[in-house]
Amino acid sequence: MTVLDSSSRYAELIQPGRVHGSLYTDPSVFAEELERIWYSGWVYVGHQSEVPERGDYVVKNIGPQSVIMTRDRAGQVHLLLNRCSHRANLVCDAEKGNSSALRCRYHGWTFANDGSLLGYPFMRGYGGKEAKKGLGLGRVTRMESYRGFVFGSFAADGPTLREHLGSATDSFDRLALLSPEGEVKITAGWLKHKVKANWKMLLENETDGYHPQFVHSSIFEVARSGIGALYSDKSAAVSRDMGNGHTENDLRPEFRKLGVPMGWFGTTAERMPEYVRDMRAAHGEAAEEILIDGSPHVMVFPNLFIAEIQLFVLQPLAVDETVQHVTALQFAGAPQLNERMLRQTVGSVGPAGLLLADDSEMYERNQRGVQARQPEWLSLSRGMHRERVDEDGHTIGYATDEVPQRAIWAHYQRLMGGAR
Ligand code: FES
Ligand SMILES: [Fe+2]
Repeated sequence: MTVLDSSSRYAELIQPGRVHGSLYTDPSVFAEELERIWYSGWVYVGHQSEVPERGDYVVKNIGPQSVIMTRDRAGQVHLLLNRCSHRANLVCDAEKGNSSALRCRYHGWTFANDGSLLGYPFMRGYGGKEAKKGLGLGRVTRMESYRGFVFGSFAADGPTLREHLGSATDSFDRLALLSPEGEVKITAGWLKHKVKANWKMLLENETDGYHPQFVHSSIFEVARSGIGALYSDKSAAVSRDMGNGHTENDLRPEFRKLGVPMGWFGTTAERMPEYVRDMRAAHGEAAEEILIDGSPHVMVFPNLFIAEIQLFVLQPLAVDETVQHVTALQFAGAPQLNERMLRQTVGSVGPAGLLLADDSEMYERNQRGVQARQPEWLSLSRGMHRERVDEDGHTIGYATDEVPQRAIWAHYQRLMGGAR
């Protein structure tokens, strides 16, 4: 291909209803994505509930970069880069912990959990204390949070987190309503699944309503689950472009038709008496609607998937390698729900789980398939002729339509063309 400027290059590779296969395989595209998406835009990093106490820290990431989320002595949260300011060793190798200082293993430099350099061994080698100034850990340029969900951006300016999230803030609000105390907790621990596939295969699949009936038919059968039917031609559920690359499979129309509190969770109010009692006490009349509507199924661009009962975080490592971090959602004041969320998470996306293994198999098959050079393009045209606009002005389609995938690529094209 001739060298074109970025916007014309991507306008050529991303066309209405189809995208070019090289977008998943070309290392130069991946390098550009790191600059224009992962290191310029808002990326989800972690949740404040993962560092509840002063001195707590957890190791997170923004793409291939390792990031330490800490809570300092004053209770303030920081996003520090996991790179020693001496000679770039990883400062933190434990996944999490509590410590008043972080000590680099290579030559023993120590840092406070706000990132400042506390000291180094054999200080005279540096000509005294003064030399320490300005040698703290690097930090993610901007950090903002919404309902405890902490995002980072390496861009000094550009849209605020609120502007980036746009109407996706509703999804976080909805999630918090499932707690009698209005609070999500990320405390269940993390599983990691590495796949040999481009990160966008995963991104697109999270709100792909076309595949569940086929890819997940065995688990739906074994678990006698009604989920498959939510993603059929007869389903009232909708696929949605929420703007800014955020996408949704909105299952509420089906749950409202059913009209059963906790129906979204495949159960009934009678089988979860304590949780339902506490929700009714906390939310009053609004509780019924919350208990019927259930939890969102939303992909927040580019890396946070709110998957009803779990949270997934995508981490691209290379053009054909991605890690999917997953945890069970937990809610303050909801032990009965939390217990079941944990069990369902283990059963579906745990090491021997039946759901994510299906998807992972598809990602890797996809990556192998896209190496073949013909027919070059991937088709994303499903439902283009029947798109419509909802009352909030968002484009929606049938449950199985590729509205979300087209939305992702349209946003991607804007960013790769230089937009922020
Ligand atoms: S690289 Fe960290 S102390 Fe030398
Ligand atoms: Fe799936």
